[in-house]
Amino acid sequence: MQRRDFIRASMAAPLAGRIAVSAQTPAASSSPEFRKAFLEKFPWTELCTTPEDAMLLRILIESRGAKRGVEVGANIGYGAINMGIAFERTGGHLSSLEIDPANVRTANKNLESVGLSKSVTVVEGDALKVIPTLPAGIDFVFIDAAKPQYMGYFQGLEPKLVRGATLVADNVIQSARQMADFLSYVQSSPNYDSVVIRASMHKNDGMLVAFKIA
Ligand SMILES: C[S@@+](CC[C@H](N)C(=O)[O-])C[C@H]1O[C@@H](n2cnc3c(N)ncnc32)[C@H](O)[C@@H]1O
Repeated sequence: MQRRDFIRASMAAPLAGRIAVSAQTPAASSSPEFRKAFLEKFPWTELCTTPEDAMLLRILIESRGAKRGVEVGANIGYGAINMGIAFERTGGHLSSLEIDPANVRTANKNLESVGLSKSVTVVEGDALKVIPTLPAGIDFVFIDAAKPQYMGYFQGLEPKLVRGATLVADNVIQSARQMADFLSYVQSSPNYDSVVIRASMHKNDGMLVAFKIA
């Protein structure tokens, strides 16, 4: 990114509405500096993944070289931007499922602002209905929508996962009871290595990270 583009992008900040950073050119919007500034100014709410958890997702995708990702629950795209950056680097693609049309519009706008519309597709609809329509060959999954439905999402996704897929599920400490069937299945299955980790103490919560062995 040219220095003058970045300065122009930063100066546009107060005029940009919901997101207080905007870029003037496609090249400027996909620069690492602009994306970093955009994420720092993101209208983050408690529904968004924490910055540390989002960074862990990004690192997991990059280190695995994942190519076909699915996020269940896009909200306004904070996690999707972080994961999209990783999928852009691996040459892969993320399908991010979201039930709320207003969230879908905002997520698309945010992804467009940082030049990630090609790396991430936001799919509008109930994930329980959308998942069966997705093609097989998925190698990365992030489940982060309705907590009692985690088992339903997983049951739809599991037959489409490649061996060696990485599965991440959010809020597995605070909402453990609501997803007890899902946690019990994955944690006791010989087909998965899994661990609950806390990349962030912000919500006093954690993520299940699982690796599909067979
Ligand atoms: C915790 S937020 C997701 C945060 C997002 N993953 C991130 O990293 O910023 C949960 C989202 O799941 C969506 N959701 C809830 N039930 C859903 C369903 N059945 N299908 C698709 N999305 C759903 C909600 O509308 C909400 O936006």
